Amino acid sequence: MSLIQEFILALSFFLGKMTYTSAEKMLKKHEDGTKFLDVFLSGLSEPTQRRPLENFLGEFNPDRVKDFKQWFKSSSEESLQGYNADEHYRCFRLLHQAQNESLVKEIINSSARIGLSYDSLTLQDCVPWSYVVTCLGGTKSLNLYNTKNLTEEMAEVLAPAMSLSLKIVLQRSFLSTGAVPHLASALNRGITTELDLSYSRLGDEKFKILCTGLRDCKIQELCLQSCNLTEESCEDLVSVLTSGTSQLCLLVMSFNKIGDQGFAKLCDALHSPHCKLQELKLDRCDLTEASMKVFSAALRSGQSELKKVILARNTMDDSGVEALCVSLQHPLCKLQSLNLYTCQLTGACCSHLKEALMSEYCTLSELELSVNELGQEGALLLCQALRRPGCPLEKLGLTRCELTRPVFEELGSVLKSGTSQLKSLSVGLNKVGDQGVKHLWDAVAHPSCLLEELDVEMTQLTNACVEDLCTAIRASKTLKKLEMRNNSLTDASIPALVQVMQDSHGMQEMNLKYNDFSEDLFEMLEKCTKIIY
Ligand SMILES: *[C@@H]1O[C@H](CO)[C@@H](O)[C@H](O)[C@H]1NC(C)=O
Ligand SMILES: *[C@@H]1O[C@H](CO)[C@@H](O)[C@H](O)[C@H]1NC(C)=O
Ligand SMILES: *[C@@H]1O[C@H](CO)[C@@H](O)[C@H](O)[C@H]1NC(C)=O
Ligand SMILES: *[C@@H]1O[C@H](CO)[C@@H](O)[C@H](O)[C@H]1NC(C)=O
Ligand SMILES: *[C@@H]1O[C@H](CO)[C@@H](O)[C@H](O)[C@H]1NC(C)=O
Repeated sequence: MSLIQEFILALSFFLGKMTYTSAEKMLKKHEDGTKFLDVFLSGLSEPTQRRPLENFLGEFNPDRVKDFKQWFKSSSEESLQGYNADEHYRCFRLLHQAQNESLVKEIINSSARIGLSYDSLTLQDCVPWSYVVTCLGGTKSLNLYNTKNLTEEMAEVLAPAMSLSLKIVLQRSFLSTGAVPHLASALNRGITTELDLSYSRLGDEKFKILCTGLRDCKIQELCLQSCNLTEESCEDLVSVLTSGTSQLCLLVMSFNKIGDQGFAKLCDALHSPHCKLQELKLDRCDLTEASMKVFSAALRSGQSELKKVILARNTMDDSGVEALCVSLQHPLCKLQSLNLYTCQLTGACCSHLKEALMSEYCTLSELELSVNELGQEGALLLCQALRRPGCPLEKLGLTRCELTRPVFEELGSVLKSGTSQLKSLSVGLNKVGDQGVKHLWDAVAHPSCLLEELDVEMTQLTNACVEDLCTAIRASKTLKKLEMRNNSLTDASIPALVQVMQDSHGMQEMNLKYNDFSEDLFEMLEKCTKIIY
């Protein structure tokens, strides 16, 4: 059917010149031959748009108009509850043709799922989508996840919607160079507080353009993980962070090769009173101990507001930690959380960490040291610091740190001492067996122990631990989560574990995945929803 024929069909329906009384039936009948019939029906159903035609064709049949509107509302409601992108687009297209703002607000209410990503986005779809978001006065999240090619034209059309969105998701999307200035100016004019560009491989050149908008905008959280950025972008970031209007408090730079020189530049910003950064993620950024002195100096400059930093998967070495520890015991350093996961550390860094944790100025409540070869000697030094009354550590990660039974004994003793504030302890992947972990079960059962979460994944536990473990759970007033993946518990332990979890009010989760259970007992495990298996 030609376009004009489709239009005439829609017109005939509203003029009551057809046998159809139901729009749904007519659309179904012509489903295959038409493309725009629903669009014409929608456009003609609105009084302001049909009035010029009615002036010389006569009034539309009110029952037909009513019927169409009813069908449109109920079918839209249904499709907006679902996840089918094409149906969402169809609904947006019809709303765009109707050009009635109150209709948009009526149909797209709080129960509609328009936060979906429409990853097959085309320019034709951007127009109605942007129209709908604009009518709604904005949206919580504009989800452009995995957009294959956000072209200049698409970005231009979407810009009004972008500037009205609290969050913009461009994760895994490709932005053409021409699209970036539109995004930048939307941020600059708009209300957006959160921008996620992770895995977009944006690159330095496009990031430079984006910064023209970032310098003066409301962004508080910026995720640039895996954006193919280098040292060059760090300079642009400094100009954003020190612009005087920056609200940025969370910056994710992980998986970009910024290197020591790039990071050293970023640290300049931390000396500025304009920089509001509180959280910085630098997972795998090719950093070494060479930039840690500069970073440490920034942390104690008195200007840095940084509370949380992730430095995981960088070759920090012990000397890098030594440099950081100078600040951790400094009264002007505000750091509360430090993540040094897989940083090629050895026991040699522990004396510096101990000294820092012994300081009355230390504010560190979270320390992640997992997957470093700290060994027995290093870990015992940390335990000495944990014993200090007033030591602020609440969360400690020591997974796969070559810990031994004497370390577990010492940790148990610290937890029972009445001075430890530890609420979360991860000591998985240390081969200490039942005899080692027994010290922790004893500690959990002790009234002074405050542990809420304990991770003993892959510590070679067997059924022999179950009695102590159950006693600990029954006695503890604080324990909520127990991680016991990849151990060697067998079917014989299941009845007791299910019983203790069912009886416990405090326990929320016990993870028993990858133990040696046979499928016959899954039915029994299923009875307790707090057990993961
Ligand atoms: C817009 O749609 C609403 C809801 O269907 C309707 O009540 C109103 O008359 C329409 N307004 C205009 C100007 O067409
Ligand atoms: C949303 O609108 C539909 C009609 O389109 C209505 O049935 C539903 O109750 C509304 N939901 C809310 C939460 O207002
Ligand atoms: C993106 O679309 C633009 C405009 O259609 C085109 O010139 C460009 O080559 C496309 N880029 C990619 C990577 O597909
Ligand atoms: C990363 O950026 C460089 C230029 O800085 C470019 O040559 C390279 O192709 C980019 N890599 C990817 C995967 O986008
Ligand atoms: C735990 O066991 C599962 C299944 O055998 C395995 O895939 C996983 O790698 C193990 N975890 C560790 C940390 O080895």
